[in-house]
Amino acid sequence: MPWILDTDPGVDDAAAVIGALRLPLDLLGITVVHGNVPLEMTLTNTLRLKQLLGSDIPVYAGAAQALLQPPCHAPEIHGADGLGDITWPPLTVAAEQQHAVAFIVEAAKTYAGSLNLLAVGPLTNIALALAMEPSLVDAVERVVIMGGTHSAHGNTSMVGEFNFYADPEAAAMVLRAGWHVEVVPWETTLASLVPLDVLPEVGANPVSDTFRRLSAHLARRMKRMRGVEGLLMCDFAALAVALDPSVGVDTVKLYGVVETAGQHGRGLLALDYARRFGGAPNLTMYRTLEQESLQQLFRRAFADE
Ligand code: RIB
Ligand code: CA
Repeated sequence: MPWILDTDPGVDDAAAVIGALRLPLDLLGITVVHGNVPLEMTLTNTLRLKQLLGSDIPVYAGAAQALLQPPCHAPEIHGADGLGDITWPPLTVAAEQQHAVAFIVEAAKTYAGSLNLLAVGPLTNIALALAMEPSLVDAVERVVIMGGTHSAHGNTSMVGEFNFYADPEAAAMVLRAGWHVEVVPWETTLASLVPLDVLPEVGANPVSDTFRRLSAHLARRMKRMRGVEGLLMCDFAALAVALDPSVGVDTVKLYGVVETAGQHGRGLLALDYARRFGGAPNLTMYRTLEQESLQQLFRRAFADE
């Protein structure tokens, strides 16, 4: 089952990239999107991670801005460079020439009916691919996204989760495309903090050592802002669902739409819990993840090779 990971590294994205490259996911390529930091940095960060893991995975630069939403970034969460502002060796790897959206469309044609998408950033690349090639809907087997909310607890506005808020129009296009989307929302990931001791001991291997350093900024913020010890690994949680849907121990199929109007409502994932006002379910909402399984996957991703 071939997968494409679409990402905006970002500290938690880094865990998803490392996991996608080290766990048994048949990864075709990584497409990069604007988000936590501008595209130039999310691309640099993806290449830094590719180089750190010594991977030959192709990396494709995608959308530098949202469809309509003005730029929206989160350096206060992820650091000015998006990966905790640590030092990195000079880059010796580069992105592919092909644009990310063209790569997604091409992969859909090559793997018609069996392509899978794991999107853990703003959904601009996925929306543009849908606009370029509407048959993408039929070419894709699973679409798993980290984004939205199950109870409108926003992290970027009162009701907006970052990935949906940073490009509400793209999120709306993805949810109404006609495929069934698996949604790993903000509240579920917030309840799935990875204990700090899940990372191997310092010195175990260069990947876990680098991740420990780059995630320190986010770990300190979690302690300061929420008084909790742990790693907020939103995007790794979505990877876990992609790898093993049974990690989701409480899921519900619902009809949902993304609000793109309103002063306070932009980016809201509106859900038809009453099953009266929308259409047939277009999404599976992962409300609870099995924590031990999630942590086991995290341990495997960062263990010594
Ligand atoms: O709301 C959390 C999401 O926004 C995560 O994907 C994080 O990396 C940011 O992109
Ligand atoms: Ca992300």
